[in-house]
Amino acid sequence: MYTLAHLSDPHLGPLPQPKLRELASKRVIGYVNWRRNRVSLHLEEPLARLVDDMLSTTPDHIAVTGDLVNLALKAEIETARQWLGALGPARDVSVIPGNHDAYVPGALGHAWRSWADHMTDDAKPLSAAGERFPFIRRRGPIAVVGTSSAVATGPFMATGSFGPGQAQRLTDCLRGLGKEGLFRVVMVHHPPLSGATGWYKRLVGGSRFRAAVREAGAELVLHGHTHRRSIGWIGHVPVIGVPAASNAGHAHGAGYNLFRIGGEPNAWQVEMIERGLSGPSAPVIEMDRRHLYRDGRIVNEATRDAAGQAAPDLREAR
Ligand SMILES: [Fe+2]
Ligand SMILES: [Fe+2]
Repeated sequence: MYTLAHLSDPHLGPLPQPKLRELASKRVIGYVNWRRNRVSLHLEEPLARLVDDMLSTTPDHIAVTGDLVNLALKAEIETARQWLGALGPARDVSVIPGNHDAYVPGALGHAWRSWADHMTDDAKPLSAAGERFPFIRRRGPIAVVGTSSAVATGPFMATGSFGPGQAQRLTDCLRGLGKEGLFRVVMVHHPPLSGATGWYKRLVGGSRFRAAVREAGAELVLHGHTHRRSIGWIGHVPVIGVPAASNAGHAHGAGYNLFRIGGEPNAWQVEMIERGLSGPSAPVIEMDRRHLYRDGRIVNEATRDAAGQAAPDLREAR
């Protein structure tokens, strides 16, 4: 049995005092927004307890699907590098960037250089700019495939982008990994389902992502960005969204997911365990436990309730 943990959107704080020149552009609006709203939503102490809980389950691998920081200031990116180091060795912690990690032009390159040990391919660790994604990391029975939808956008926009070049590379690598008989886990920051989020924060080119997964196949797609738990589908491939790891001050709470993966190619068995906390001082508890079936069912074995009937916040979208 292989255990994969999925954590997303820690939006690590506290926000360092930005230098004046760093507050040019979109960061001015983001800074005001963070001081007004996010500072009370993204809380450090509950995040630390959530991470402790996750590490106590001794996962074999940890997938972090972006938005590690807020305004992509240099000091934030360094804080995130240290935070990643505390999760475990870089070979056991895979990271992709989110829109906040690419907050302004140039930020993504800085984040990539700082977090490169966590987001590079096993075979070509020094990929050329523009072809860094998807990266592939083979670990036991699974292949972690890290894509990037992170782009700098204008004020009040949080869209992602998935271009034709990356879509072709994703199709090719998923085909190859399928032939190897690996359990393919695809990481993407923005939800790749149409209608999964508002237009100003949608994934532009999401149809390309879906086509790649449909044509070449995958076993699991993991995303963040929405800061809420969700289950959707691309064909029969489960698409799982996880709450923001630091979102204890928000109504959706904070959480992470564990996937216990067993079986073999064409007969994989996947149990999904959702753990989290519903408020800043609440304990970290198991929220739900389900099996993901290849025929598209997701069932809570304890209650025999299918997702979508038992939990109204779990949306099903194909
Ligand atoms: Fe986020
Ligand atoms: Fe995001």
